[in-house]
Amino acid sequence: MTSGAPSRASLPGTRPAGAADEASASRHVREMFSRIAPRYDLLNHLLSLRFDVTWRKRLARRFRPLLARPDIHVLDLCCGTGDLTLSLAAEIRAASPASPGSIFGGDFAHPMLVRAREKANRAGRRVPVDFLEADALALPFADQSFDLITTAFGFRNLANYSAGLAEFHRVLRPGGWLAILEFTEPENALFGRAYSFYFHNVLPRLGGIVSGSKQAYTYLPGSVARFPKPAELASLMKQSGFVEVDAERWTGGIVALHTGRR
Ligand SMILES: C[S@@+](CC[C@H](N)C(=O)[O-])C[C@H]1O[C@@H](n2cnc3c(N)ncnc32)[C@H](O)[C@@H]1O
Repeated sequence: MTSGAPSRASLPGTRPAGAADEASASRHVREMFSRIAPRYDLLNHLLSLRFDVTWRKRLARRFRPLLARPDIHVLDLCCGTGDLTLSLAAEIRAASPASPGSIFGGDFAHPMLVRAREKANRAGRRVPVDFLEADALALPFADQSFDLITTAFGFRNLANYSAGLAEFHRVLRPGGWLAILEFTEPENALFGRAYSFYFHNVLPRLGGIVSGSKQAYTYLPGSVARFPKPAELASLMKQSGFVEVDAERWTGGIVALHTGRR
């Protein structure tokens, strides 16, 4: 680590290039995701060879018993175009079609939410899904409102990870679950080298060309490299009051599902 650059463990949150503090980091992130929203789904599917679809469905399936409870209240944060929100809603609907449960998808990039709402309308409204503009670091919900909070590929983009975890803890009910799905770096050296070449060289070029925002797809591998490793995130979660903290690596260790309970 060069002098002056904060170590991975001491980073309070994401810092896109040019962002000196938390407020400007949040602004950069919101503007970046707003810009790429029109091509976001296409690029996700293309760059991950559609593994992104599998990962979100797997997360939703993992919480099937919880989602089957009548009157479950779920918050999917940093929901983007709503794919995980709708996978969770599908599980709720399949488990108990007459469930009065509810699910909110929250994101602070308006153009993402426009697409999420369009998808929800196309999918029908048998499970109440609501999308709202919300900053994960200052949630517009009362204490102890939710049984499950999920966030897929969003947590890494928060300007302050501890503040985010404190906010999730506040709005979770006692016994409620937090599930964070994030990219990680593979542990296997050989696979790690091949993946790193793809992630740092091919993906930024392809992503830049298709989205028109080279910055967004250069930011992605950089932010993953700076993001706490699963063990570091586990300690942050414990420091924030979560218990039963665990992490599962999926797909050769390129993503991990981090779970914890309030
Ligand atoms: C990589 S996308 C993930 C979207 C979606 N969860 C998915 O699985 O595709 C990250 C999303 O997090 C949102 N985001 C980042 N920081 C946020 C914050 N502080 N509050 C709310 N949303 C945030 C961005 O606007 C963006 O839509």
